[in-house]
Amino acid sequence: MSANSGGARASWSGKWAFILAAAASAIGLGNLWRFPYLAAKYGGGVFLITYVVLVVTFGFTLMMLEAALGRKTGQSALGAFKSFGKKYAFIGIFTSAIPFIIVPYYCIIGGWVLKYAGAYLIDGSAALADGGTYFTNFIGGGGESFIWAIAFLLIVFAIVALGVKNGIERANRILMPVLLIMTAGICIYELTLPGAIDGLAYYLTPDFSKFSVELVIAALGQMFYSLSLAMGIMITYGSYVKPDVDLNRSIHQIEFFDTGVALLAGVMIVPAVYVFSGTEGMGAGPSLMFISLPKVFDAMGFAGTVVGVLFFVSAIFATLTSCISVLEAITANCMEIFHTSRKKTVLVLSVIYLAASAVIALGYSVFYFEVQLPNGSAAQLLDIMDYISNSVMMPLISLLSTILIGWVLKPQFIVEEMEKGSGKFTRKALYTVIIRYVAPIVMLILFLQSTGILA
Ligand code: PHE
Repeated sequence: MSANSGGARASWSGKWAFILAAAASAIGLGNLWRFPYLAAKYGGGVFLITYVVLVVTFGFTLMMLEAALGRKTGQSALGAFKSFGKKYAFIGIFTSAIPFIIVPYYCIIGGWVLKYAGAYLIDGSAALADGGTYFTNFIGGGGESFIWAIAFLLIVFAIVALGVKNGIERANRILMPVLLIMTAGICIYELTLPGAIDGLAYYLTPDFSKFSVELVIAALGQMFYSLSLAMGIMITYGSYVKPDVDLNRSIHQIEFFDTGVALLAGVMIVPAVYVFSGTEGMGAGPSLMFISLPKVFDAMGFAGTVVGVLFFVSAIFATLTSCISVLEAITANCMEIFHTSRKKTVLVLSVIYLAASAVIALGYSVFYFEVQLPNGSAAQLLDIMDYISNSVMMPLISLLSTILIGWVLKPQFIVEEMEKGSGKFTRKALYTVIIRYVAPIVMLILFLQSTGILA
């Protein structure tokens, strides 16, 4: 029985609710800051083409595997893997450990984004465009960033506590369309700026000389992160899908939305940075979002304040809906294991996460330290958690689950689920080859490479 203490298992109200929820999980900071930065770094169009090819092959196979597994077993990751026998339970444990690691640090970044949206209104765009002092003072302050993280955390917990239909579905129905409209609006405005078309050409034109193994690995890592794979989210979300829904088509649509927003985010960021700071302005991760972009926005004059507010509000929405999905995966797992009610589970989790977030927020001040990761980069607490979850655990989990499905249970196991209801499995042959051969080999290489075993 799929345990859901006190009643039947929750379900989405329909096919679109599932697509929207999965897309809302997928569309996050990965689309808004990571994708544009990687595209700019790795030769524009070449990266885009590689990414899209990976999404429709690998991404499709792995997402389908998870969603079908969830629907077939009617359980979240822990229960789903255990249902094949005790000896496979550890895959479920690994899978559900990732959301546990991710929530506290995602909330910290959520808090930063929340703070920046407010700061545009209160301090004005010039104050934020000071080349990084504002940002480092803020995150180094510890206490303040913790307060913003709590605010963010409380919103996420409140929505998850309201449940699948009343909380998650309702929030997505409002936040996602607004996010899309704001992003598209910013793109349209920015493309009217002088020189923007050259920036757009820089983003879209393929520079084939930049094609390399490193590019493929970067695109693969981005695909995992962006599609919210290998952390059990799609297993939980798949377990709420009714049997008559065509999973095959739904997954096409989710991929389409996620990739579409990533491409759009590139249009929003790359040409603007190109116009105001040239190609050196495309710093990575947090520095792009919190240091370079505020400079770019400030250079737009008054419009920059409006663009800044819209951008950071879009980022809040994207971060919120992703964080909701991670917390839902944890909540669903806990409810199944401990047979507790949703509200009680969320309450206990919120106490644990408040404590964990405090430690991470203080990781930039009181507990500051730096270590060197096996892949050579210097890291502090937040980077270490990011590294463990994205670079080590995710490839390992995908390796284990593709071996389990491809070789132990056999690909047909998933095919049956995909062909259920009105479903037609259009990429069956591709799926079979990927799940049995390509994915295990590539995941193994990725795992060895990011752990530093394979230099
Ligand atoms: N897919 C999200 C993004 O692109 C990231 C994410 C990570 C979502 C972890 C949920 C959990 O930003």
